[in-house]
Parts: sequence; C-alpha cells; structure tokens
Amino acid sequence: MELDSLRLHAIPGSVEILNGGGGLPMLRLLGRDSTVDVYPHGAHVASFVPKGGRDALFMSGKSYFADGKPIRGGVPLIFPWFGPNAKDASLPAHGFARTQSWSVASTSVAADGSVSARFELKASDATRKLWPHAFSLAFTVTAGKSLSMSLEVRNTGDEPFTFEEALHTYLAVPDVRQVAIDGLKGRTYLDKMAGAARTVQTESPFGIVAETDRVYLDTPDAVHVTLPGHLAVTVAKKGSATTVVWNPWVAKAKAMADFGDDEWPRMLCVETANAASNAVTLAAGATHVMTATVTVG
Ligand code: BG6
Repeated sequence: MELDSLRLHAIPGSVEILNGGGGLPMLRLLGRDSTVDVYPHGAHVASFVPKGGRDALFMSGKSYFADGKPIRGGVPLIFPWFGPNAKDASLPAHGFARTQSWSVASTSVAADGSVSARFELKASDATRKLWPHAFSLAFTVTAGKSLSMSLEVRNTGDEPFTFEEALHTYLAVPDVRQVAIDGLKGRTYLDKMAGAARTVQTESPFGIVAETDRVYLDTPDAVHVTLPGHLAVTVAKKGSATTVVWNPWVAKAKAMADFGDDEWPRMLCVETANAASNAVTLAAGATHVMTATVTVG
C-alpha cells in the first residue's frame, strides 16, 4: 500500500504514517497511554511501548522487511493454518496472512485517549491459489493502557470452512532463562520437541530451560509472564482455545536466517491461537472473533 493513499488515515497527534523497516509503510498509533507501530504488510504489530516504559515486544535485528516475507518479531498474524500446511508442506508456513498487503479501513481516537486502526484482507486470486475459500478478515489494533488486537474472520462463501489462526506475540524479556510462566497448570500440550506428544503441564509456574515449542490445547485463560525485578506481562484473550509457547534456544536460532544467533534469550512467544484440535469451523456467512490483550505491570 502506497504512502499517499495511507496518508488519508493520518490523524494529527494520534496517527502518523511513516516509512518503517525496509521502507515499508507503517502506522504509528500515539495513544494517551502507549505507542504502537503496525505495518499494513501482514497487519503486523511491530512495537508496543507503554507510556514511560520500554518496548514490550521483541523485534529481531535480522528481520526481513520485504514483500513476500514475514517480519520476525512483534506480532505476526497467522491465518488460515498454523505451522506447516497439513496437506502440502510446500505451502508457506503459518499461512499467508502475514505476508499479504492489508488495506487500512479506518483509524480513530476514543474518548479515553486510546487510538485504533482497522485493517482488512479479502480473498483474492493469490489467496485462492493457496486456500480455496471465500473469506474476509478484519484486524483491529488499539494502543491503550494495553495493546489490544482483535481478529475477525468471516466466511463470505456458501460452504463451511475450517481454519487455524494465531496472534504470534513475541514478548521482549531480559533473559528467557529467568521467566516464570503461569496460567497453564494441568493443561495438555502437544510437545513439538517430542513429535507432538500429548503432555500434561504439571509444574506451574514453569520456566524455559531448552528449546521449547508447545501447543497448549483448551486454554482460554490469561497467561502471566513474570521476571525477577521486572514488571509482569499478561496476555489475556477471548475466542481463543489454544496457547503456544515458543523459544528457539541456541541451535534453532542459528538455523534461522532472519534471527540473530544471540537473540533467543531476549524473547518468549506466548501466542493467542486456535490450532490443532481447536481449529475453528465457520458456517457460511458466520464470523469468528479472537482477541488478545497484552498488559505490562
Ligand atoms: C511457532 C511454532 O509458533 O512459530 C514453531 O510453534 C515455529 O514451530 C515458530 O518454529 C516460528 O515459525 P516461523 O515460520 O515464523 O519461522
């Protein structure tokens, strides 16, 4: 999307249209209580800075900012499948929403000083080649006391379809080896480090001590991440039954071209999702909404 057409959505003092990474256009939402950067490329939230604080989101210094490539860090928006495509491994991992150019539908300022932007993506020839369904997506990002993100999926076709989705939130942490993660006690996860073996989370809170890639099923509740001497971060959600916890650790970090070898201690993904047995089946004409809210302190 070109800067000139985006400028229609600028609001003096509240929404700036800027050149972001790689010269990609970016919206900066200047809320009373936080500042949020979001790219139409992938409807990708790249930064959330609560007033007087630091960026609560991690962004890799090695990220691509280019057409056709996902941004590494912030909040990649995953749709309509999570991870590799179950039927065709040659299709892009985590679907196509994170690499499409979304349109900006509107920007607004609320009475409480929070600032929102709404993005849209509709089925096109490009998406039909990858996924043969009629859909429209709307994604609303709000810079308030919290970062709020709401993804609406609408089935605009005549047949039901099934999809997966995730707001793949990269939290910035001083050292992932020190975090304590709470809110998943007793839940079953698919351990992708062990062939997706079903495993029960007995310890809570728990820490990260190795490469971790877990899909927690039937987990509608908020997750809290605490760090000694630092503010806690809460990821709360609605319309989401899956929580993914991911850190690549040493070897996987080295293997990723768009991720610095030494960056893994500074991030923890806590992803608000509907995946695996929690995939959503949507009737013709129906809409599903999933919301994630990130709060610091
Ligand atoms: C996580 C997955 O959500 O995303 C991991 O559970 C995956 O398996 C990670 O490695 C990163 O994926 P990508 O496609 O952004 O490299």
